[in-house]
Amino acid sequence: MDYLQAQGVKSLNGTIKISGAKNASLPLIAMTILAKNCVVIKNLPNVVDIKTLLKLLSNLGAKCDSKDDCITVDTSTLTQTKATYDIVKTMRASILVLGPILTRFGHCEVSLPGGCAIGQRPIDLHLKALEQMGAKIDIKAGYIEATAPNGLVGCEIIFDKVTVTGTANIIMAAALAKGNTTITNAAREPEVVQLCEILNQSGVKIDGIGTAILTICGTDGKLLEIDEFSIIPDRIEAGTYLCAGAITKSELTLENVNAKHLGAVLAKLEEMGCSFTSTKDTITLHPAQTLKPVKIVTQEYPGFPTDMQAQFLALATQANGTSIVEERLFENRFMHVSELQRMGADISLNGNVATVNAPTKLSGTDVMATDLRASSALVLAALVADGETDIHRIYHLDRGYDSLEKKLEGVGANIKRLKE
Ligand code: EPZ
Repeated sequence: MDYLQAQGVKSLNGTIKISGAKNASLPLIAMTILAKNCVVIKNLPNVVDIKTLLKLLSNLGAKCDSKDDCITVDTSTLTQTKATYDIVKTMRASILVLGPILTRFGHCEVSLPGGCAIGQRPIDLHLKALEQMGAKIDIKAGYIEATAPNGLVGCEIIFDKVTVTGTANIIMAAALAKGNTTITNAAREPEVVQLCEILNQSGVKIDGIGTAILTICGTDGKLLEIDEFSIIPDRIEAGTYLCAGAITKSELTLENVNAKHLGAVLAKLEEMGCSFTSTKDTITLHPAQTLKPVKIVTQEYPGFPTDMQAQFLALATQANGTSIVEERLFENRFMHVSELQRMGADISLNGNVATVNAPTKLSGTDVMATDLRASSALVLAALVADGETDIHRIYHLDRGYDSLEKKLEGVGANIKRLKE
């Protein structure tokens, strides 16, 4: 297994190119199940989760090819409708094939994704909405067995909670359904917006894009002609590198980034004393010389993203005062805390609230990644820790960050990938 070795306390300098968004790529790859043509998608990140989803589609009979950051997916040869446990257990976002397969073929079996390190992560809202659209759903031997022999029928869906992949699943299910589907309390993440925009350009009329109330006019089973498109930039990858600049007090420029998708993150960095210069597709961070403490509560978009919570917790260890970070979306998303404490951070947990007394001098040591965003928080801490930090189990990191250590090395960080 690989691990990362980083030497701390070095300032960074230069430009980092941001890759396409993992969390936009996954629903958009699942969306190709709705297409009659071979779909070309550009600006994909080179991350394990994308490879996993492409493998899943290939196992179902689709033809998937990739070259650099571009893929072609032809699902006209798709014959299987069962997403098996061996793949789904490695990536719970595989649930995103449920809506598209069901609405196209009238039946689908998907292994229950199960929980993950950060929480239970139920999919009850996905299933309840599909049942409202006329699907029969049974859970048998760890599999979701969904049937809709006469196709799905549009209806009024009200989500009890905002769910990102739940919204994406139902949008795709509604795309080929009979009649209109209205989703109330829909997720408004930029990744969901891009899914709606591409479907809208492909003959599925969608109103309310970017709002919490979406109306999707289904094609009644007619497959879509989907033109080539590019994935939007990854706002969480971008936010992570902004934190790298802030924690090392370095001026960094990010390219291929959309500042409009980072409103809450930029606002919190400004509160901590940073400032920014941005253009249509770049952001330059001007770091605070003394970071101010901050209060963060994670929320659905456009609120502060839960996927940036771990990174800000690492940053808060270097602020001049006590920060409070409340995690409202997931019940177990503080596993990075114990690793940061081992590096010398003074963090106390009370339920889903972390209190960070700072600044504290961090010391390099062996640490273990536990989930995707926790891994990046440990890298940020390693960049300012005294001495050497070895970060183990970085297969978590490789699921969602494209060449992280190479991008950091490119701006002067002393970090390399080694074999255990
Ligand atoms: C998406 O996960 C992202 N993953 C996550 O990013 C992100 O943290 C999360 O949205 C929240 O922004 C992808 O897009 C692939 P949810 P998702 O359904 O869709 C509860 C990363 O780091 N819920 O919006 O699985 C759930 O338990 C990953 O890139 C139900 O109760 O999250 C959670 O408390 C981690 N029932 C809340 O809603 C359901 O049926 C939000 O979950 C569905 C969700």
